[in-house]
Amino acid sequence: MASFTMIVLSLLRVIFFFSTHNSPMVHAQNLTSSKNLIHKVSAVLVFGDSFFDTGNNNYINIFSESKANHIPYGIDYPFQIPTGRYSNGVLLPDIIASYLGLTEFIPPYLDKTKDLQTLMTGVSFASGGSGYDELSGQQMDVISCQKQLYYFKEYRTKLELTMGYIGAQMHLENALFLVNFGTNDLSTTYFGQRITQFTVEGYQQFLLQNAMKFFQGLFDLGARTIVVAELLPIGCTPVLRLVTGTVLSEACLLNLLSNISSDFNKKLQDGTNLMQLEFLKYNGRIIYANLLQPFSDIIQNPLKYGYESGSVACCGLGFTNVGPFCNSLSKICTDRSKFVYFDNFHPTQKTYQILFNAIRSVIDLLIIT
Ligand SMILES: *[C@@H]1O[C@H](CO)[C@@H](O)[C@H](O)[C@H]1NC(C)=O
Ligand SMILES: *[C@@H]1O[C@H](CO)[C@@H](O)[C@H](O)[C@H]1NC(C)=O
Repeated sequence: MASFTMIVLSLLRVIFFFSTHNSPMVHAQNLTSSKNLIHKVSAVLVFGDSFFDTGNNNYINIFSESKANHIPYGIDYPFQIPTGRYSNGVLLPDIIASYLGLTEFIPPYLDKTKDLQTLMTGVSFASGGSGYDELSGQQMDVISCQKQLYYFKEYRTKLELTMGYIGAQMHLENALFLVNFGTNDLSTTYFGQRITQFTVEGYQQFLLQNAMKFFQGLFDLGARTIVVAELLPIGCTPVLRLVTGTVLSEACLLNLLSNISSDFNKKLQDGTNLMQLEFLKYNGRIIYANLLQPFSDIIQNPLKYGYESGSVACCGLGFTNVGPFCNSLSKICTDRSKFVYFDNFHPTQKTYQILFNAIRSVIDLLIIT
């Protein structure tokens, strides 16, 4: 265990950023006409880590290789712009906001060139490296979860100044909040400082408490519809497959690290369901989005989805491209739609689209209810 930890640590020290996605499978209704109802959602407001960071880390003074604002990131984004999104194209929140007819590309909050009008229909406070554990964001010197709440409060104040208190309140009550943390906590922060303080189980419990406080913080600032993303299996990322000895196989779904994330998922789901009872009293909703099942299906049947590989990163160096850096010196695949992962930790846009399709019915239910 000790040497395993050392390997994880040394590999992870150069990686830093991780994330997740999730959604529940609810049986689809015929919502072809959902476009008539989309006026009900006013905005998509995003919190989390690198899976949801649309460019905030560009504005933070961190090691530049920890950012995704250089080629070949964004190679499939319009005009091939590396926006800071940790993928070849858009992320899950962009796809959701686009589906709702709000905006195609959710701007990062720290981009000061965007005025409030632009941030009105959607904004991301997420920051690669962050987690439910405040320490995750702090030790990486990125936007921690508490700092994301602070920025959201600032955003709310700006809304109040232009729309009035009631106007801002209504706007936020009709907004969709997306939250995705946990991967950095369980893959990195735990194996660093926290391992001396907590058992794995104790740490998962600690994360859950933090998560609940975070959701409550959003609620107190006006959120009434929160979608919590389930963690993807941490042990299936190309780099952590190597650590766990499940490089080319779907056995990655049941390796030690994936078990750690799926055990946390169960706690997160229970916690979310419990909190939902409280939220209902205030006409609020907190929904657990099950992404693990659709993602596991991709990992088990990559060919079915038109992938060449579920285990090799499109961009990187070395065996299965798990080398830490995805940059202009890296190998890059020619067809990104053939890969589940873009770099050694983050999915491709195509993977996000498949995950969106899996949770679309959940989004539809939110629109019509
Ligand atoms: C869904 O509704 C649209 C129009 O309301 C209709 O054209 C279409 O056939 C329906 N699809 C199904 C699967 O019922
Ligand atoms: C992960 O959990 C499964 C059962 O859910 C178990 O069969 C497997 O041995 C576990 N993996 C490790 C590495 O402990």
